[in-house]
Amino acid sequence: MIRKAVFPAAGFGTRFLPATKASPKEMLPLVDKPLIQHGVEEACAAGVRDMIIVNGRGKYAIEDHFDISYELESLLRKKGEDAQLAAMRAITDMADFFYVRQNLPLGLGHAVLRAMDLVGEEPFAVVLSDDVIDSKVPVLRQLIDVYERYSADSVLAIERVPREQVSRYGIIKWKKIAEGVYEVLDMVEKPKPAKAPSDLAIIGRYILSPAIFPALAETRPGAGGEIQLTDAMRSLVARERVLGYEFEGVRYDAGNKLGFLMANIAFALKDPELGPGLRAFLAKERKK
Ligand code: G1P
Repeated sequence: MIRKAVFPAAGFGTRFLPATKASPKEMLPLVDKPLIQHGVEEACAAGVRDMIIVNGRGKYAIEDHFDISYELESLLRKKGEDAQLAAMRAITDMADFFYVRQNLPLGLGHAVLRAMDLVGEEPFAVVLSDDVIDSKVPVLRQLIDVYERYSADSVLAIERVPREQVSRYGIIKWKKIAEGVYEVLDMVEKPKPAKAPSDLAIIGRYILSPAIFPALAETRPGAGGEIQLTDAMRSLVARERVLGYEFEGVRYDAGNKLGFLMANIAFALKDPELGPGLRAFLAKERKK
């Protein structure tokens, strides 16, 4: 059973400035929902119930978003907007939310370590909400299925990336054990293309064993001077069964402006209300 998911959300969102100067990157909308809500809904759909959000200064909007807004609810009630009222309450009711602060910008590994006391001694998920994935089965569910089927300790979402892009990711050294399932032998964070052990990249969905916490506590700053989750996971592969799973789905890197725009267009095109109008607009633009 994977009951808890950790959402690192303390970054400054510098790639989206000025949009993120005063509001969190995680609240940028993917069509009509904040990025982080898409991640939380994916976790819910995978059976996760406790959402642990690692935030920092200036991130109050995230807590408010998942809380009840009495003023808004009373207004919607007065106006008889019952469907919207139910939709707003559903955001709060879908899970239990817990918050912990990452008070220093020391990296993804440090963010996950901040969740240690809230996770405790059980396997848990990590969701990086700027990796947006459009899939039939929620990617976390796909990972949990692999976790159970192969009695793994940890499972990482992976995807093949162009060689020239490996330096943006954690890259695994692998041994294939079934179609799409790889035993992770080693991994390296943001390698130069010439030094990369493969072109299989870690994408922002993980199932991790609680052994990651002592490993993180011992991890020294790595790539970019930050405490890297990849470096801590690397120290686990000798002791635990760490698998990589090539998930079904299309991923958008909504952590940069272009990927964010592409994710918005792809999701809006699939939206029954917005799709037809957007398609017509894009066809007109193409002719210009
Ligand atoms: C993080 C991880 C990296 C992973 C990537 C996936 O990097 O450190 O291993 O491949 O997410 O999106 P970041 O995107 O925070 O630089």
